[in-house]
Amino acid sequence: MIKKYTKTDKILIKSNEILNMLFNIQSSGRENPANNINEVVDMKESDSKLVSSLMRVNHSGEVAAQGLYIGHAILSKTKTQEEMMLDMASEEKDHLEWCEQRLKELNSRTSIFNPLWFSGSIAIGMLSSISNDKSALGFIEETEKQVAEHLESHIKKIPKSDIKTHSILKKMKSDEEHHGETAQKNGASELPLRLKKVMEITSNIMKFASYRL
Ligand SMILES: [Fe+2]
Ligand SMILES: [Fe+2]
Repeated sequence: MIKKYTKTDKILIKSNEILNMLFNIQSSGRENPANNINEVVDMKESDSKLVSSLMRVNHSGEVAAQGLYIGHAILSKTKTQEEMMLDMASEEKDHLEWCEQRLKELNSRTSIFNPLWFSGSIAIGMLSSISNDKSALGFIEETEKQVAEHLESHIKKIPKSDIKTHSILKKMKSDEEHHGETAQKNGASELPLRLKKVMEITSNIMKFASYRL
């Protein structure tokens, strides 16, 4: 016999799913691309400081990506869309771990603002998913485009001798481009120019704060 769920059952099931998403996103398990690369010998203090600050920004970006994809997953209209969001969140979790590992290797730390980026991004992810899946995909396509451009700018700023950091950022950039293509292939709708500008300003605030603290 098929069990009929009451409204309360459905709310409880959904709440459990949301809690699982919030606290249980697993990394996809890919190896850190920097694992088999030698550490820079005698890195200058100024270089180490620069790379740490840039990687702190990238780590915060990945915290925000977790929040965004969880927010999108919570309000996905179909199971396929939800699974796509959670798959991408898993790959973003890899990035998060790689950035965190690099910060540890450089004796640095993550940003104190991360809880704010995480919670704010869940809200933004949910907001952009309220109306339909296509506008959520449009938001993802634009976010990933901006993130890939941002990573390219960091690749240029990191000292050439730091091959470890370069290898992480290059892999992240190629994954972000792939996420953007996935969103586009699945019917992303074009975002209004004004919204793209707001997204850029918001991410600049995050970069400014996480670079320093
Ligand atoms: Fe990422
Ligand atoms: Fe991504």
